[in-house]
Amino acid sequence: MPRYELDGQVAIVTGAGRGIGRAIAHRLAQEGCKVTVADLNPETAAQVVAEIREEGGHAFSLQVDVTQQPEAQGMVQQTIEQFGSLRILVNNAGIGAIAPLLETDEGTWDAMMNVNAKGVLFCSQAAARQMIAQGEGGRIINNASGAGKVAPGKNLPLGAYAASKHAVVALTKQMGLELSDHGILVNCVCAGIVDTPMWDLIDRETAARQGAPVGSIKAQAVDGVPLGRIQKPDDVANVVAFLASEDASYMTGQTYNVSGGLLPY
Ligand SMILES: NC(=O)c1ccc[n+]([C@@H]2O[C@H](COP(=O)([O-])OP(=O)(O)OC[C@H]3O[C@@H](n4cnc5c(N)ncnc54)[C@H](O)[C@@H]3O)[C@@H](O)[C@H]2O)c1
Repeated sequence: MPRYELDGQVAIVTGAGRGIGRAIAHRLAQEGCKVTVADLNPETAAQVVAEIREEGGHAFSLQVDVTQQPEAQGMVQQTIEQFGSLRILVNNAGIGAIAPLLETDEGTWDAMMNVNAKGVLFCSQAAARQMIAQGEGGRIINNASGAGKVAPGKNLPLGAYAASKHAVVALTKQMGLELSDHGILVNCVCAGIVDTPMWDLIDRETAARQGAPVGSIKAQAVDGVPLGRIQKPDDVANVVAFLASEDASYMTGQTYNVSGGLLPY
């Protein structure tokens, strides 16, 4: 059910082929946005576009690797060719890796930093330059993580991931200040335990390390959620839609927890 007046606004959502990004793309399309569904995987991106069109929404798909600066620029250019302007960028693409810090090799560290942090910088630079040229402000919404604010825990070896997500929170704060004169608002959401393929991977790999049954790590994590249920991708999409709306027009450089009460600050 649409709640915000985003009719005709143009949005890019990265990593929108599945999981949280897919839910955000759907929600923004339901709010009236024209959506570029960008993902490394062209098949899943095309599938999400087909779903949105089926619901009567406007979307087109693009294969993009957010770690490649020319591809980030191309994503913005092609969005302009397709839809004529750009109002909203949602930096959602991200990857996780299970490895205790003492076992984290350079490849794992670089992959986390490249996709989760550098990708946010490159896509934001390309989008912000376009928004500045348009002269009408804009919104950049980053999908960080609870791991961007607190350590995932002794039994959840997500150290490099957490470092990359802390970088997203820092980028949000500084970018919010640097772009404020242009009316471009930059905010960030930190989710908890969201039911997506990423958490399935965390569960599987952590369980294998601990010799625990598959599903038990996720169940344990969900037990700790004060609101008592696993998070749905839509729980995140709802807050992203709000941050894209006029109701959020006096908020920038901030980080919002959407975690069922899991995150203490
Ligand atoms: N699942 C959770 O519990 C959770 C919690 C907090 C934050 N997050 C964050 O939310 C975001 C989405 O997570 P998810 O759980 O939906 O993950 P997911 O693995 O289900 O989906 C991630 C999507 O990003 C795409 N992607 C990966 N690398 C890319 C690249 N280089 N360029 C473009 N696209 C790329 C993948 O193809 C995939 O479609 C991530 O940034 C993640 O860190 C997830």
